[in-house]
Amino acid sequence: MILLLGASGYVGAAFQRYFTARSLTWRGLDINELDCTNLNALTAFLQREHPTFLINCAGYTGGANIEACETHKADCLLGNAVLPGVIREACQRIGLPWGHVSTGCIYNGARPDGSGFREDDPPNFTFRQNNCSFYSGSKALGEEVLAGAADCFIWRLRIPFNEQNNPRNYLAKLMRYDKLVDVRNSISQLDEFVRACCECWEQRVPFGTYNVTNPGSITTREVAALMHKTGACTKQFQFFQSESEFLQKATKTPRANCVLDSGKLLATGIRLTEIHEAVETALRNWKV
Ligand SMILES: NC(=O)c1ccc[n+]([C@@H]2O[C@H](COP(=O)([O-])OP(=O)(O)OC[C@H]3O[C@@H](n4cnc5c(N)ncnc54)[C@H](OP(=O)(O)O)[C@@H]3O)[C@@H](O)[C@H]2O)c1
Repeated sequence: MILLLGASGYVGAAFQRYFTARSLTWRGLDINELDCTNLNALTAFLQREHPTFLINCAGYTGGANIEACETHKADCLLGNAVLPGVIREACQRIGLPWGHVSTGCIYNGARPDGSGFREDDPPNFTFRQNNCSFYSGSKALGEEVLAGAADCFIWRLRIPFNEQNNPRNYLAKLMRYDKLVDVRNSISQLDEFVRACCECWEQRVPFGTYNVTNPGSITTREVAALMHKTGACTKQFQFFQSESEFLQKATKTPRANCVLDSGKLLATGIRLTEIHEAVETALRNWKV
């Protein structure tokens, strides 16, 4: 049995769909049933239920966007930094392998030569650089807490999207705005992300950190052009002149925009669609 933490969330729902489609045995565990930050209670639960694998997609995201993390700092630290540490300890105690959904939002920009950050590049959008959102800082702490963890995958998700019109879907978010900021990012097709994470376990690839983003990177203008090309959205978007104009006028919270290299995951044989192709497919199959 696979134990899923955070099953009620946007990412958790995608894992549920994957398990259901493949008739895999799983169960969810939510905060109303058990306080997963209580180490002894969580360990006892794992001993009683003996799952074969645990997937943690619980975390504090602030809901619609990360702004809420700036004002709900205790919840954010609890969900993103403390909780992974407690899960690590509980899993270690009973020798349970597990995977943690992290984020690429702990990086900003690209490597000096323009290529994507690799897993062993130190994150550069964290409390240590004092330049980040509270959300990114808390997620980077979560990865620090997991450094050296045995039998643990850290899967970095980034700006999830698919063909389902959901307020949490990146493509749906862009369609709602009139004015966009043109930035380059590596992003993750949500259902491919989930499949790739599950394949890491199913195919027993080496434990460790993986950037689970579709190969390549894409700019907001390129996404907008694909919306027009496919007819999924015909809105004539305006664009901020620069990222700094966007930060001054549209938000108080710094955003990470980054390019990640998913070559380590691809080298295991797990397949992910090239990013422009993945976005175009989602838009062609767009469910209004
Ligand atoms: N969505 C994205 O854009 C994105 C991108 C990159 C990475 N991620 C990461 O992916 C994970 C899931 O994100 P999501 O978008 O699915 O978030 P979400 O929709 O807000 O769901 C979060 C889930 O975590 C649970 N949770 C929150 N705090 C908890 C705590 N202290 N103890 C136990 N459970 C707790 C929530 O339970 P309740 O329903 O009971 O509140 C919910 O099930 C997070 O770690 C997030 O950082 C998300």
